[in-house]
Amino acid sequence: MYCVRNVTDDIYWIGANDHRTHLFENIHPIPQGVSYNCYVLLDEKTAMFDTIEWGQGRQMMSNLEHVLDGRDLDYLVVNHLEPDHAASTGLILSRYPNVKVISSEKCFMLMHQFGFDVDAHEQIQVKEGDTFSFGKHTVTFVEAPMVHWPEVMVTFDLTEGVLFSADAFGGFIANDGKLWSTDVDWKANNLDEIRRYHCNIVGKYGPHVQLLLGKAATILDKIKIVCPLHGLIYHADDDLMTYIDKLNHWSSYTPEEKGVLIAYASMYGNTESAAQALASAICEKGFTNVKVCDISETHVSYLIADVFKYSHLVLASPTYNLNIYPVMENFLNEMRMLNMQNRHVAIIENGSWAITSGDLMQEFLEDEMKDMTVMNERISIASSLSGDKKRDVDDMAQAIIDSMEEVTCDPAKRFEKKQH
Ligand SMILES: Cc1cc2nc3c(=O)[nH]c(=O)nc-3n(C[C@H](O)[C@H](O)[C@H](O)COP(=O)(O)O)c2cc1C
Ligand SMILES: [Fe+2]
Ligand SMILES: [Fe+2]
Repeated sequence: MYCVRNVTDDIYWIGANDHRTHLFENIHPIPQGVSYNCYVLLDEKTAMFDTIEWGQGRQMMSNLEHVLDGRDLDYLVVNHLEPDHAASTGLILSRYPNVKVISSEKCFMLMHQFGFDVDAHEQIQVKEGDTFSFGKHTVTFVEAPMVHWPEVMVTFDLTEGVLFSADAFGGFIANDGKLWSTDVDWKANNLDEIRRYHCNIVGKYGPHVQLLLGKAATILDKIKIVCPLHGLIYHADDDLMTYIDKLNHWSSYTPEEKGVLIAYASMYGNTESAAQALASAICEKGFTNVKVCDISETHVSYLIADVFKYSHLVLASPTYNLNIYPVMENFLNEMRMLNMQNRHVAIIENGSWAITSGDLMQEFLEDEMKDMTVMNERISIASSLSGDKKRDVDDMAQAIIDSMEEVTCDPAKRFEKKQH
């Protein structure tokens, strides 16, 4: 059965919702599923914008055939060749032998690498600023390298102001019929999963996202609808600026909120107890935007999302064979790989005979990451937090609260701060 929705009179969503994949990219849990969006334009010519991952190819084909209603498919525009979108390109090429493929140079290279038989089709290579007309609709192509792969471009329909934004503006959570952002309370219910999607998938490429945002800013008044490859689609007047503002924070590594993520690892519960004592001390002093996470229990993609959200991070780790506890080491590595920067970090260490985790975490933060402020107040625990360490806990709590003053949650000010 087909399952389609109109985006405009001429443009249709023909994507699919995926509740069977448990790990996106075989790494990030997606308990609420994910959608793969693709679109088709009916004009004097017909054009499809991106395809879909393997498992949903059948759904895409029945959607497409329904919308085309007997017409041939004239063009396939490929904005992004990652297989969650492009895997079904092969289906389109074999079902529509006359289809012409429009894409970037790098994208054609990847199409060959992935083994799509594109050479049997006319290939139209486009670059930044090129335009193409399908009849009433003229589109222009905007290069968006590394948002999320190097070949990525976004396509802007100048006629109706529709931006096909590839992975940008995406999010986890399957749409399940609710295609428009106005169909849900997205800021209340979807934002956490949008953040987790963006920060884990594209978090590393902040400068590239900034570049794309800069290009979007020049046509902002012309953008009426944003159609990403995952998640909801947005009317410009449904607070698109909120999403842009979030992107601006994430891509400039500016915290969204003054707040504290206390991420602890603990085998026997003693480091955990210290993390809880610190959370209580901070809250007792009147600052309650505090979140405590057991990193052994929490998938690192959730931790990453919270690190992008909050200004402060407390890392609490036992020593493990003279090293950092492995899940903490993994968390640190993930942060580094995603280019995380510009956060205040406090350290709690624990050990029973040779405590090294604190120094090693500090070294990692200072040597392997950029612009991380490691606070002087450190809590060092010998096996369990003794009563006489209450003072250290209070001092760390106070120092964290005091340092909130140094934090800006305004991306523009963050860059000002950097220039000084
Ligand atoms: C496999 C293993 C290796 C450990 N290696 C060290 C170590 O190298 N140095 C140290 O001081 N403590 C080491 N410990 C002890 C723990 O770090 C220490 O008991 C700590 O208090 C545990 O904190 P927790 O109660 O939060 O789990 C190790 C414990 C285990 C299980
Ligand atoms: Fe992607
Ligand atoms: Fe994607």
